Order: sequence, then structure tokens, then C-alpha cells
Amino acid sequence: MLPDLMPRPAAITPDTYAQRRAALMGKLPANAAVLIPGASLATRSRDSEYPFRQNSDFYYLTGIVEPDALLVLLPGRAQGQSVVFCQDRDPTLEAWTGRRLGAEGVVREHGLDEAFENAERDDQLSALLAGREQLYVPFDDPESLALAEQVYAGAQAGRRRGTASVSGFHDVSPLIHAMRLIKTDAEIALMRHAAEISARAHCRAMRASAPGLGEYHLQAELEHEFVWQGGSGPAYSTIVGGGSNACVLHYVENSAPLHSGELVLIDAGAEFDLYAGDITRTFPVSGTFSPAQRQVYEIVLIAQENAVAAIKPGATLNGIHQGVVHDLTAGLIALGLLSGEVEERIADNSYRRFYLHSTSHWLGLDVHDVGDYRLDADTPRPLEAGMVLTVEPGLYLPDAEDIPEAYRGMGIRIEDDVVVTAGGHEVLTSGVPKQVADIEALMVNK
Ligand code: GLY
Ligand code: MN
Ligand code: MN
Repeated sequence: MLPDLMPRPAAITPDTYAQRRAALMGKLPANAAVLIPGASLATRSRDSEYPFRQNSDFYYLTGIVEPDALLVLLPGRAQGQSVVFCQDRDPTLEAWTGRRLGAEGVVREHGLDEAFENAERDDQLSALLAGREQLYVPFDDPESLALAEQVYAGAQAGRRRGTASVSGFHDVSPLIHAMRLIKTDAEIALMRHAAEISARAHCRAMRASAPGLGEYHLQAELEHEFVWQGGSGPAYSTIVGGGSNACVLHYVENSAPLHSGELVLIDAGAEFDLYAGDITRTFPVSGTFSPAQRQVYEIVLIAQENAVAAIKPGATLNGIHQGVVHDLTAGLIALGLLSGEVEERIADNSYRRFYLHSTSHWLGLDVHDVGDYRLDADTPRPLEAGMVLTVEPGLYLPDAEDIPEAYRGMGIRIEDDVVVTAGGHEVLTSGVPKQVADIEALMVNK
């Protein structure tokens, strides 16, 4: 019998992509043009390439996953405002690498107004841009900057011939990123799915854990579940850190053996329809917390639970982080790792020896998703319904002489994915336990 398969949520429809393009164009002057290149394949070694991952902004506005495409938006153009350039149809190449949409497929399957194949790009692009004065491109993408230079050179030549067009260049990214920051219900359904796949994968790794296995065995359990449930794989490099490897924040070697008596930290999430899950759990390799491990774990857990509870419209990530810093610092004093008063140890930053990252980031098509964290230099952005963020406090106790032996080299982080709702919040990742008793029960009664 097949192991249980999760029902898939509905995909975003071509209509929705069209509404997003219309909303973006609604923010631009009538003489604007937007150019957004998709991603290209990257060589891994010689003839083999990394798996293709579409550029998130391009995907958000088109739903197209082919390499080497370019989106052109032309507000007010009578023959169609949304144009895509795509890979040339090529029967010989397609026999090796699969079917290409072609211009016809882009229009038929993705609802773009007009499409051309890349062979026509140079000629058609300058015709499309004729009379467009303000060019909007993503400034965070080297390819689009190169394209902007090419358009600029063409405009200079045009100016000499008296047919000047583009004269102003603008960054389109902030406009798209402000839209991506607030997720629609359909996006949240996809993110809930990515989160649930990720949660199942973490449960699977907890059940599989045993001394004598390698960190990579747990990575294999996680990534098997991601793909089995229809995800494209990990949304970022899976971290499995046993013992003091948990203190290395971006530990991705996953090559060490797991030892009885140690904790293991797993930070891993599935990508589904390009949306990221992002979960961290820390648990005992052999299923039972020692008293010292439990003490530190519960400090992080309380900080994490308080932070999640504070999420609602109007709260700020800055405020949530300050709450976490307070809880963790109080815990460090209770453990004897810091001394004095909580406010003093926060003021002199001594807590940062044990907690040096921030508590949250936006989550979406990118694991560290786009969107401003501040309204201006002094004003943290208030949370709004539809924002999705992580909550991931941790404590990392160095393997150092001045740390009591029972705590040395312990790294603990607990991370959930949370949607802000009108009434407060919804935790997307509650499918994997984080209470001590629940983790122990899952690991014992596999
Ligand atoms: N896994 C990356 C992060 O938690 O931010
Ligand atoms: Mn993470
Ligand atoms: Mn994270």
C-alpha cells in the first residue's frame, strides 16, 4: 500500500498572474516599460546543470518555469500590455531536454497577451520599447542591469537618429516586493502545504534518529519526504547538526556521526510550487532529553512560544525580537551563564555570546523573502494580515572552559512558520511537535 499522500492545493491560475501584472502596471506612469528577466540554467560541472529554479519575481508575475525568458510590461499598449520572450522551439534540442512552451504555448497556457521566441528578441524589443521613456528593471539582478545597459546604448543611438525613447531608469523590485510581502489566500494555501510537508519530514527524521547513524541519514529521511509529497526538494540547504555542530548556524556538511546523549538540530524545509517551508527542531539523538538539555530547551521553547503568541496585526518584528532577547537573557541568568540583572545584560549585549541572530524573517517564494522590514530608519514595519514570517529563537552555548560541562557545545533552535491573520496568527508548522513530552513520545512510540 502507498504511504499516505497529502492532497495537493490548487495552483495559482493564469488570471491571478494577470491581476498581479495589472496591479504592478497600475503603479507606473503611462510611458513606462518593465523588463524582468527569468533565471537561466547554471552549470554544475561540464555538461551537467543545477536543477532549474525560476527567478521568484518573474514567477510571481507569470507562473512560467522555463529558463531564459523575459517579461516585458507595457502599460496601455493596445495590442497587449504583457509580453514574454521565451526559448526558441527546437525539435533537436527538445529531444534532449524536453518540450519548450514556445511563443504559442506561453500565450495559450499562461495567458500572456503576446509572446515571441528569443531569436526575435533584439528586433522586437526595440520596437516594443519605442516611445517608452521610463524603464523599470530589478536592480538586484545582474542580468537585468546588463539588459538595461543594452537598452540605454540603443536609446543613445536612437537619440542621435532623432528617435529617442528611454531616458530614465528605475528599480522595479521594491514595487514587486511590496506586493509579495502580503500573501493572498491562494498563496497561503500553498505555503500551508509546504509547511505541512516540512513538518511530516521532521517527524520522519525524529522517528528515524538513532545513535550510530550519520547526520546525512536524517537529511535523507527529510528530503525523501519533501520529494515524495510532490515538493521540488529542499527550499534551502538542509542543516542537520549533531552535538556542537548545532552551534554552527549554517552547518550544511551533515557528515558527522550522531552520538547517544547528544542533541541534534535540524533546520530544513520543503519547497512546493516554489514556496518555502522553514522549520527547525532540536531533539535528543536517542529520544530522551537529559536534565541539562531539558533545562536549556525549555528556555528556548518559552521564548519561542511567547514570541508566537505576540504575533498579530500592529505588532513588529523588532518588538517580538526584544521579547525573545528578554526571555533568553533571563534564562541565561537562571542557568548561571550570565549574572546580574536582565536589563543590564541586554544593555551590554552580553547575551549576544549565546544568541547572535535575529528572531524572524519574511517567508514566501524565497526562504528569506522580500519586503522591507522598516517603514523608515526609525520605524519598524507593523505586521499586517497576510504577512508570513518565521519565529526562530535559539541558544548556542560554546564548547568553552567557562561554560559548565553539562551545557558545553549545546545548540538549540526552535523555528515555526506563522501567518499574520486579522484576528492574530496561524501557525503553519504545528504538525511537528516541540514540547519535550511530545517529542519524546513520538520518538519512543514510532
Ligand atoms: N534556514 C534558514 C533560516 O532559518 O533562516
Ligand atoms: Mn530555518
Ligand atoms: Mn528561518
